[in-house]
Amino acid sequence: MKKVVALLGSKRRGNTYHLLIQIKALLAENDVDLEIIELYRFEIKDCAGCTVCVSKGSCILSDDVPQIMEQLVKADGIILASPVYLQQVSGKIKTFIDRTCSWYHRPALTKKPILCVATTKGSGLKATLSYLQNVATQWGALNAGAIGRTIFNLEKHVGKREIAKFLQLLDDPESYAPTLHQLIEFEVQKSLALTLSELDTAYWNAHNWSNQSYFYPCKRVPFKRAISGAIGNLMRKRMGKRNTDISH
Ligand SMILES: Cc1cc2nc3c(=O)[nH]c(=O)nc-3n(C[C@H](O)[C@H](O)[C@H](O)COP(=O)(O)O)c2cc1C
Repeated sequence: MKKVVALLGSKRRGNTYHLLIQIKALLAENDVDLEIIELYRFEIKDCAGCTVCVSKGSCILSDDVPQIMEQLVKADGIILASPVYLQQVSGKIKTFIDRTCSWYHRPALTKKPILCVATTKGSGLKATLSYLQNVATQWGALNAGAIGRTIFNLEKHVGKREIAKFLQLLDDPESYAPTLHQLIEFEVQKSLALTLSELDTAYWNAHNWSNQSYFYPCKRVPFKRAISGAIGNLMRKRMGKRNTDISH
């Protein structure tokens, strides 16, 4: 049975939670288990801004964040769910996301589909979902779409079609065709990893990503890969590379 973990950024079991409950029922029909992590029930301290997680690989703070990160790493798929607060995600989920900064440098959620969910009275839905989808890209994960509701369609039940891509990617993550934005982001992450930090270089080499154009040997979107590869090679030429041969 596949396992999905959802992060909920609302303190209430309100609109966003109820969408997750509908998604849970649909996933169960497909033999997928959904665990909802209500972030407000956990201790999540503000990022100290020291970047020790990036440079040394561990955080100086002690709270529930490592446990939640571990649950995401173990999951087959992830749902990021937040109400819109002043046009954006809630502070709680943002605080959690801030604490995952090391995943930008040493991605741990590659090949995991991420479905983004948000609810609002009327405004800020697009910006909020787009932010969450961008977080998925920063983590090196797969963008499995978005489900949003406003006061005008809150009663509309989540349909099978809205989770179809998520289910398909849970079964076959490598069928995913990365966007040009994701391919370029990969090249930026790779360039930073191979030029700035020995810890990151070792991590990228150990995962065999240093000579790849994406997090798995992706044969799709060849034209986009040619563009992102050229940008990446140019970037690394200017930055000075470390320890590895970069060829596409
Ligand atoms: C602090 C706060 C800020 C909000 N900001 C917005 C907003 O910018 N635009 C909007 O249309 N609704 C806004 N809302 C309404 C919520 O986004 C909406 O009711 C949402 O569905 C609540 O989700 P929940 O029931 O899961 O907590 C806000 C609500 C709160 C409590």
